[in-house]
Amino acid sequence: MCGIVGYIGSQPSAPILLDGLRRLEYRGYDSAGLAVQVPGAGIEIRRAVGKLRNLESALRERPLDGSVGIGHTRWATHGRPSEVNAHPHVAGPIALVHNGIIENHLELRRRLEGRGCAIASDTDTELVAHLIQLEVAQGKSLEDAVRGALAELQGAYAIAVLSEKEPERIVVAKHSSPLVVGLGEGESFCASDIPALLPYTRDMIFLEDGEVAVLERDRIRISKLDGTAVERAPRRIDWSPVMAEKAGYKHFMLKEIFEQPRAMEDTLRGRLDREARDIHGHEIGLSDDDARTVRRVVLLACGTSHHAAMTGRYHIEALARVPTVVELASEFRGRDGVVGEGDLVIAVSQSGETLDTLVAAKEAKAKGAKVLAIANVIGSAIPRMSDAVFYTHAGPEIGVASTKCFTTQLANILMFAIWLGRRRDTLSADRAGALVEALARLPHTMQDVLTGTRQLVANLARRYVDARDVLYLGRGLSFPIALEGALKLKEISYVHAEGYAAGEMKHGPIALIDSHVPVICLVPRDSHYDRSLSNLQEAKAREARVISVATEGDEAARTFSDDLIEVPDVPEELTPLLTVLPLQLYAYYVADYKGTDVDQPRNLAKTVTVE
Ligand code: G6P
Repeated sequence: MCGIVGYIGSQPSAPILLDGLRRLEYRGYDSAGLAVQVPGAGIEIRRAVGKLRNLESALRERPLDGSVGIGHTRWATHGRPSEVNAHPHVAGPIALVHNGIIENHLELRRRLEGRGCAIASDTDTELVAHLIQLEVAQGKSLEDAVRGALAELQGAYAIAVLSEKEPERIVVAKHSSPLVVGLGEGESFCASDIPALLPYTRDMIFLEDGEVAVLERDRIRISKLDGTAVERAPRRIDWSPVMAEKAGYKHFMLKEIFEQPRAMEDTLRGRLDREARDIHGHEIGLSDDDARTVRRVVLLACGTSHHAAMTGRYHIEALARVPTVVELASEFRGRDGVVGEGDLVIAVSQSGETLDTLVAAKEAKAKGAKVLAIANVIGSAIPRMSDAVFYTHAGPEIGVASTKCFTTQLANILMFAIWLGRRRDTLSADRAGALVEALARLPHTMQDVLTGTRQLVANLARRYVDARDVLYLGRGLSFPIALEGALKLKEISYVHAEGYAAGEMKHGPIALIDSHVPVICLVPRDSHYDRSLSNLQEAKAREARVISVATEGDEAARTFSDDLIEVPDVPEELTPLLTVLPLQLYAYYVADYKGTDVDQPRNLAKTVTVE
């Protein structure tokens, strides 16, 4: 995990690096550090354990002047969070920051110690600094020294390196961890992710695995590990910097919850063909023939994206009649499961960088499956390795707990299923037309739910803030939403929560119910309604505190519930897009009342590029 950033230009580098790190803090936040080329004094570093503000105070006490520098925010993998383990790591004239994991670190450590290197930290990263330093000591340029060192590494890395001997450049390289370089006027940048650079430049180049870039003030030179030059034009990123700011909200998560109508509008734009009662498929990147010949769909994802993927199974089977399975990418990879030609693998990932999803999709592709990515971060690793990409356009998501990216994933998956169903003649134009119309209204409907339920949900959160366990129940499309509601609560408020398929409650979880346990029942008027209502009554009969999320005007649900959260009546396929909204708000308010760190919950990171 971790976030890295680098700057070379004519402005003081420290404020730019700190600002970049602030925008990358979602990638990890147990320590942070900077290395700056200080004119006349060589490279100086400052590091601090804990959140970025600790590094900021260290810099206030001992500022760093200089216009070339690198920075890092860490999520510990090797070595506990401590100042000595914090990046940048230094070896002789070299300072280095790293995101990723070096797998052959034990062997490298033994070898380097055998050569007399004094290794100060427990990290795998410091070893890379020593490897580069040994190459530099043989008289190599920094660029060649980095190449030489990389040849010895196994594992994942994105690195940025400074050398006191070449103060006018930064050398960066990547393999399996993300790295983007940015081009400004007389200045160059690098970072793990786009938002870090948005206030400074929109012109960015995504480095590919096995590439090295040399950043100077007025040029960036990219080459492959073997030295072959690479020509790649920058891409203009149209995310605005304000999209990565809190815009008056107390937390990014709350802002992102309320941004969902706008994010949905951006995601739907240009994709709904209301006239033809269909989905415009050009952005999906698959042919009509692909749609007709697919034998099976395999959805791969982790975390919240896995919950979105689960809805794909319901939609794709119901609307397109294609057998569909959903797999946790971490369980799929390395299992040698049966997948191959004729299978369409859909890799769902907000960041496009989750290592388990990336590796699982690569394995499936190697066995002959076609891969379609549903991702939010443009140009990220999963889209790059996929045969086709259907982007969500939610804009940058900063809160660790995913919200707007989840709902836009739901929309993309539904649009894909409609597109597939139309091409396979399993979905009538009338039915597709009704869904397309409901999707077109969705941003407004979501806005109504958010404004209409906010106060009620905040009150419920205050009432149940001390509950130690919360159960979420749902059937059919509401089952993944029950899982997602429970995950949101666990992630940010640290309350034990379980999501269950409502029909499974009597096989175990019902034993947990008593008058202290709030049970959140998802009972929209869908094809499971009657059975869901029975489950709700079963919970109530065990004295649970029942909070129902139901369709507007549902008097039966009102009668059996302690509290009722109403959402508008929409076609069944769209209910998850509405019922999840009050659950996101509930998790948010419980966490806020508890005073937890909502945007950066303990032990979590937004982009998980480790196993
Ligand atoms: C982490 C994040 C989750 C996210 C999951 C998958 O655990 O905290 O919010 O759902 O990774 O990430 P992806 O980027 O692949 O959707």
